[in-house]
Amino acid sequence: MKKLIIGNWKMFPNSALEAKKLFCVIKKTADKKKNIQTVICPPSLFIKDLASQATGSRCVVGAQNLFWEKEGPFTGEISAEMLKSIKVKYVIVGHSERRLMGETSEDIAKKVVASLRAGLNTVLCIGELERDSSGNFTKFLREEIQVALKFLNRPVFTRLIIAYEPIWAIGKKGGRAAEPEDVLEVSIFIRKVIADMFDKKTAMSVPILYGGSVDHKNTQVFFEKGEIQGLLVGRASLDPKKFEKIISIAEDI
Ligand code: PGA
Repeated sequence: MKKLIIGNWKMFPNSALEAKKLFCVIKKTADKKKNIQTVICPPSLFIKDLASQATGSRCVVGAQNLFWEKEGPFTGEISAEMLKSIKVKYVIVGHSERRLMGETSEDIAKKVVASLRAGLNTVLCIGELERDSSGNFTKFLREEIQVALKFLNRPVFTRLIIAYEPIWAIGKKGGRAAEPEDVLEVSIFIRKVIADMFDKKTAMSVPILYGGSVDHKNTQVFFEKGEIQGLLVGRASLDPKKFEKIISIAEDI
């Protein structure tokens, strides 16, 4: 299976022109890497333009969010069908920054099922706010997974991806990536929770990604020690040099 490197551009860059320039640089590198599936998730306004740039490329475009209804009076929202109509293949669901803006676990559960039913590769983000020494954070993670997946039954599972993104490790303020050993522990834990909910085969088939202060310096160690199938990259995906290095390192492992 190809390793997944997903760039989450969040609300950057400021203009369509900048987005196009950045995407074209990344695409050049991504096109040379046959073992990597590169996905760029730009602000929704830029998706269509970049998706047309991506035609025939190994680098594809994804979305940072979607809404669970097919259509209707939902101002500001975008459906899975709409994303599909412009050839989007990946969507991030339940990012902690959206949860902080008020997205609930129930909302995320509805988004996950709508996205998977539409056939989109669905990157469900989970992650604790802080780690406590008594290990209570695992209870929190278990609940996040159980609620997010509660509407699912097995057949739609082939396109589910789980990204472990501890909130304390995300962004400039957090600034400290998790230890690869901790990521390994959590990836085993995620599979156990899915196995308990569904079955072992399903649990083993779900790709697990790590996200939170990923850069070119820690890429190698996450793949070697973290038991992950890919990375979800924020800041470093907006720096073409760093992102190219991440893709190249992942390709060579
Ligand atoms: P970061 O963000 O790489 O800038 O820490 C990761 C994310 O929010 O997905």
